[in-house]
Amino acid sequence: MSKIIIFLGPPGAGKGTQSQLLKERNGFIQISTGDLLREAVKNQTELGKLAKQYMDEGKLVPDDLIISLIKEKLQEYADKNIIFDGFPRTIPQAESLDNLLSHLNKNVDAVILFKIEDDEVVKRLAGRRVCPSCGAVYHMIYNPPKTDEICDKCGARLIQRDDDKEEVIRKRLEVYHQQTKPLIEYYKNKIVEIDATDNPKNIYNKIASMI
Ligand code: AP5
Repeated sequence: MSKIIIFLGPPGAGKGTQSQLLKERNGFIQISTGDLLREAVKNQTELGKLAKQYMDEGKLVPDDLIISLIKEKLQEYADKNIIFDGFPRTIPQAESLDNLLSHLNKNVDAVILFKIEDDEVVKRLAGRRVCPSCGAVYHMIYNPPKTDEICDKCGARLIQRDDDKEEVIRKRLEVYHQQTKPLIEYYKNKIVEIDATDNPKNIYNKIASMI
């Protein structure tokens, strides 16, 4: 039976970093709503045009757009082990996910809660660089590329995300506390907490041993 895991936590907690490790080493499918939206923005699709303004302001994209994205992906990967990275982010999104999964005779197996303080998030995101070509994530101090600003994996020039400016990060944190934190109660029987300030290798080992 395939597994459905949710990574829940504030921006910059390391959800994307750990999802990539589980994808590379354990064969999980990573479904990141943030990555899917950024792809749509890059390709200037209707969804991308609608989403851009919300993302640039650090606000959540409306639930109905996110749910139809997820519906499509679930159909594509119905029989795979999946990590949802950054989804769900609201109670209506979580209820819709339960509903979609029940039609596939599945349910959420575990929710990993990444715990980290807001000030640490701001420090982390200021140093984050991402590869626009293959999606690899770096940090200029904690996890730098071998050659300055160049992706180790594909050689593309790294970029800073538009929403990694301090005022937008603060807004994303506020949105997390108001709209996403209620999911901790919603998933209280499935939550496993991890200390997201530990080093990435230890965090990976803990998650891999749990799932
Ligand atoms: P999204 O892309 O999902 O952003 P996020 O949740 O804010 O998370 P991040 O990608 O910023 O952080 P992360 O936890 O993945 O951390 P990372 O591994 O990169 O969403 C962007 C926007 O899209 C939202 O604001 C919203 O508008 C929209 N959106 C997306 N999903 C939505 C939804 N479901 N509903 C509505 N709207 C939605 O790590 C961060 C940095 O720290 C990196 O530099 C990394 O190298 C470093 N790092 C990682 N782990 C460690 C560690 N253990 N120690 C030290 N450094 C570390």
